[in-house]
Amino acid sequence: MSKKLQNILIIDYGSQYTQLIARRIRELEVFCLVYPYHKITNKLLNELDPSAFILSGGPKSILDKNSPKLHLNILNLQKPILGICYGMQLLTQTLNGLVTRSIHREYGHTLINIKKKSLIFDGIKKNKIKVWMSHGDNIKKIPKLFSISSISENKIISSIEDKKNNIYCLQFHPEVFHTDYGLKIIYNFIFNISKIKNKFKIKNFIENKIQELKNIINDKNIICGVSGGVDSTVTAYLLNKAVNKNLFCIFIDHGFLRKNESNEVEKIFKLKFGKNFIKINASNIFLKKLKNISDPEQKRKIIGKTFIEVFEKTAKNIPNVKFLGQGTLYPDIIESIPFFGGPTAKIKSHHNVGGLPKRMKLRVIEPLRELFKDEVRNVGKKLNIDKDLIFRHPFPGPGLAIRMPGTISKEKISILQEADFIFIEYLKEKKLYNKIWQAFVILLPVKSVGVMGDNRTYDYSCSLRAVTSVDGMTANFYMFTKEQLQEISSRIINNVKGVNRVMYDFTSKPPGTIEWE
Ligand code: XMP
Repeated sequence: MSKKLQNILIIDYGSQYTQLIARRIRELEVFCLVYPYHKITNKLLNELDPSAFILSGGPKSILDKNSPKLHLNILNLQKPILGICYGMQLLTQTLNGLVTRSIHREYGHTLINIKKKSLIFDGIKKNKIKVWMSHGDNIKKIPKLFSISSISENKIISSIEDKKNNIYCLQFHPEVFHTDYGLKIIYNFIFNISKIKNKFKIKNFIENKIQELKNIINDKNIICGVSGGVDSTVTAYLLNKAVNKNLFCIFIDHGFLRKNESNEVEKIFKLKFGKNFIKINASNIFLKKLKNISDPEQKRKIIGKTFIEVFEKTAKNIPNVKFLGQGTLYPDIIESIPFFGGPTAKIKSHHNVGGLPKRMKLRVIEPLRELFKDEVRNVGKKLNIDKDLIFRHPFPGPGLAIRMPGTISKEKISILQEADFIFIEYLKEKKLYNKIWQAFVILLPVKSVGVMGDNRTYDYSCSLRAVTSVDGMTANFYMFTKEQLQEISSRIINNVKGVNRVMYDFTSKPPGTIEWE
């Protein structure tokens, strides 16, 4: 990233909303980074040289003995600071105000009364606005030099400021969609208070990145695994723009892709990359290794390991390779502090090529590591990548293998591909595809009796899955109408030999995950 780009440093105290703060700021085309509070050092502050700080909320109480503290150099730097919820209480305590435990927790919607003209509320014409609260402690005494700018309906201090030193604190969450004028409040902090001028434009990002990649890769070769998904495709196109023939794309078809996908990906990439695109059809190897395996974790592990073996073998034939390109995005690397404290439980082993570089001694290049998914899509659009590809639903690395509980067979893969194809085509035809974050079919290891025409059938059942989500971390099932479900079900049963029953999975995440395995 260009050194001169002004940035906002968001210090994470463990709030479930921290990533949302970053997304809102990026929506305003300003560059920002998230670091957990315990990773803040003088060296980091020096390197990043942020133009302003935002202290996030967090699950801890400031009154607890071991509650997270503020790195004191942040105050010494005399840059604008916005404290949100825990961030507000932390600033209050650090600056010798008083925080106490409330008798009443404020959670959810609350009305606040704006008490004075304030830069943070600039342009908001109403005196009373609806905000999203989530706190147990509150401010009893404000620090010296501070004034109160709003009070909640429950008579709790909801915002304070030290105008002279540019320190602003909010008890509520402006980053949450439910707060009226939330984006305006963040806008005010970024542009009116912190006076950020340097916008983070995708066009500039692409130009800078290409130059940076050229400098690093130089005349060496780089390999990049592609899957037809958005992240790896945009990574490959960007690398291609930077180093052209020094990029080699490897596409491993493990045999668990959607119907027609392998050929479609091959067509697009062959056209763009010519001889530098290498497709390996490894479906038989994968099928053999997965014979009789039904445990989901084992499936994932075997697929991950086999993928690495095939990739490594293919890469060995390419000369002078020193780098490995990967489509890592910012949410993958933000070291968020788990909301409930302690390390998050391992739910599923994710399959990626992370095990590769150590063995192959390649330097990993992640050109998209500073971006969120929507920004990656914008990069893709600017690079003229096919729209269908950019707005494709996410697809897991292990593919259809984890969408058929039980053992895997060629017959099951082909049944699942057909059913899934019909479902997805229906969504596209009815213009539902882009309203849904991810949709697919799961083939169940259950056969049941049916009747078709005059004949008895004994065939597989399948389940439809369709969810809305922002980032896949949480998800709601999509509410189809009865008519829609009826049509999808009859199209599948009438056209897919081997399926005689269709179910709909109306489980949200949590408690369910999006994939079944
Ligand atoms: P879950 O099932 O954990 O999925 O709710 C969340 C999102 O992640 C995708 N997913 C994967 N993506 N490799 C991937 O690249 C994987 O192994 C993998 N497993 C799940 C899933 O499709 C959903 O979008």
